Amino acid sequence: MSSVKAAITAVHGYVPPDLLTNHDLEKLVDTTDEWIRSRTGIECRHILKGEGLGTSDMAVEAVLGLLAKRSLGPLDIDLLICATVTPDHVFPATANIICDKLGAKNAWGFDLGAACSGFIYALSTAAQFIETGKYKRIVVVGADKMSSIIDYADRSTCVIFGDGAGAVLLEPSADGTGILDFILKSDGHGRVYLHQKAGGSVLPASHDTVDKRLHYVFQDGQPVFKAAVVGMADVSAEIMEKNKLGPDDIAYLVPHQANLRIIDATARRMGVGPEKVMVNIQRYGNTTAGTIPLCLWDWEKKLNKGDNLILSAFGGGFTWGAVYVKWAYEPN
Ligand code: ACO
Repeated sequence: MSSVKAAITAVHGYVPPDLLTNHDLEKLVDTTDEWIRSRTGIECRHILKGEGLGTSDMAVEAVLGLLAKRSLGPLDIDLLICATVTPDHVFPATANIICDKLGAKNAWGFDLGAACSGFIYALSTAAQFIETGKYKRIVVVGADKMSSIIDYADRSTCVIFGDGAGAVLLEPSADGTGILDFILKSDGHGRVYLHQKAGGSVLPASHDTVDKRLHYVFQDGQPVFKAAVVGMADVSAEIMEKNKLGPDDIAYLVPHQANLRIIDATARRMGVGPEKVMVNIQRYGNTTAGTIPLCLWDWEKKLNKGDNLILSAFGGGFTWGAVYVKWAYEPN
């Protein structure tokens, strides 16, 4: 096995300035601030507004911040992977658009679609290119403009999602830090509970699909909730066991921010207290591929070199998994 690991050497995020609060949603659908807080933990979300703005624009902001932190320029990027379910267009890949907007002319890129697990799938994929020695600097972006596929007349989904982007830089490390392990899973049987019905090759866009409101997120919340509670908790416990980590060895659980109750169940199963769990769902809602890098961005100043982090996610597909990261740098 390679002694070179892929270390996260910078993290940055971006959320658009416009806010959508629970009280705003009370005016749109039959819901209450109390219901949303108690069932999900969410208080507010950021929404990308503006003609012609898409997922790539948020990603570009996150990557520019990332590069500035390491005093690098866009030409230093070898590869950029964008995890998203809300690409700017069906094709070309949003990663290509991000690279073009950045001027990252030495990079190639591709998109990876694994819904809320997209970031950990992309991170694990990117790590392979570093470990083989093929590339030196890879940017992994998790970005979603969920507001572009949310039906603001459907109270069961519109309260959950928000827009945002987070990015990390991966570089080779030989000092024992970096992405040390991952477990990734998927089960296509779960697709019936969480998907977008139209706009793909099975049901292309038509007047009928628009009239029937089929271009939005469809979610049957209860089965997704049940699968997420078990899936996220089990895989997080599994990666700890596999790496002989006890609760005291863990500095932070970095969970996908879908629902506070799912996060709590995962932390309980791992035996880690709430002080070790990154939670910002109250401010951003569920930004799909953006949640985990946005957590790392918010907590960056509290992370120390050598800290053991467990990144854990569950999402549409179903897709789920956990990544064991040993943090590579001190706060500055
Ligand atoms: N306000 C008020 N009432 C509501 C709302 C709302 N916003 N939404 C639903 N309700 C009602 C329902 O109509 C239902 O009413 P009824 O009992 O009269 O039929 C009642 O509340 C209970 O509905 P449930 O769907 O059972 O509510 P639940 O407690 O399951 O919470 C939620 C719903 C928050 C969606 C939860 O199921 C959940 O978090 N699911 C998992 C989400 C997730 O993890 N998704 C994966 C990641 S997302 C991705 O990959 C893109």
